[in-house]
Amino acid sequence: MYMRKKQFKDCVFRGDRHTIKAHSTAIIKHADLGDNVRIYEFALIGFEGFQYIRQADGTLISLGHTGRCFIGNNVSIHQHSSVGRGIREYEVINGKIYRNTVIMDNSKIDSYVQVGHGVIIHESTLVCAGVIIGGHSEIGSQCYIGEGANIRNRIKIGDNVMIGMGSNVVSDIPDNVVVWGNPARVMRDNKFH
Ligand SMILES: CC(C)(COP(=O)(O)OP(=O)(O)OC[C@H]1O[C@@H](n2cnc3c(N)ncnc32)[C@H](O)[C@@H]1OP(=O)(O)O)[C@@H](O)C(=O)NCCC(=O)NCCS
Repeated sequence: MYMRKKQFKDCVFRGDRHTIKAHSTAIIKHADLGDNVRIYEFALIGFEGFQYIRQADGTLISLGHTGRCFIGNNVSIHQHSSVGRGIREYEVINGKIYRNTVIMDNSKIDSYVQVGHGVIIHESTLVCAGVIIGGHSEIGSQCYIGEGANIRNRIKIGDNVMIGMGSNVVSDIPDNVVVWGNPARVMRDNKFH
């Protein structure tokens, strides 16, 4: 794992740049990066997300993305995962908030995960392989998201939540619970703080 200058585009290094390790196949754009960040093979940070507005005549116009990704200290992003850049740094458009994407300190993102634009993942959360997190959703700290879970856009998941593998999460989830299923339901308290 080593860094090439040209794999970083429009990036800000908030800590010591030399503690960042990115595989040469990773692409990192429009990102603010902390210390000790690990980015593995073919990961893509700061991709242009999927956001179109349907016009009266039925055509689809892209909103375009100008926001950023904030990646905290000790964050790892594994193979083939992608993290969208914010549509805007912060703006209200047609009553909806658009904001930067944030992955906070110590969180770990496994492989083939998609983190949508404007998502916030709080500290020390584990996201297993194949999870899709829809745009502008917020995941609390110390959560565990089982492999292949789908999380709807613009929902809020509390702290210390475990989401079973393959779940479809379609509504907000409170703190300290285990959920699973389609649609995901609260099954019990989560005792593992
Ligand atoms: C959600 C989870 C934590 C529940 O574990 P648990 O409390 O030990 O639950 P059990 O395995 O005893 O299962 C209880 C019941 O729920 C069902 N169930 C458990 N997890 C489920 C899930 N994700 N989706 C649907 N049903 C599930 C079981 O089939 C069982 O049903 P039954 O009572 O009819 O037999 C666990 O199943 C899970 O999904 N863990 C994440 C695994 C993962 O992603 N690993 C990644 C490794 S990198």
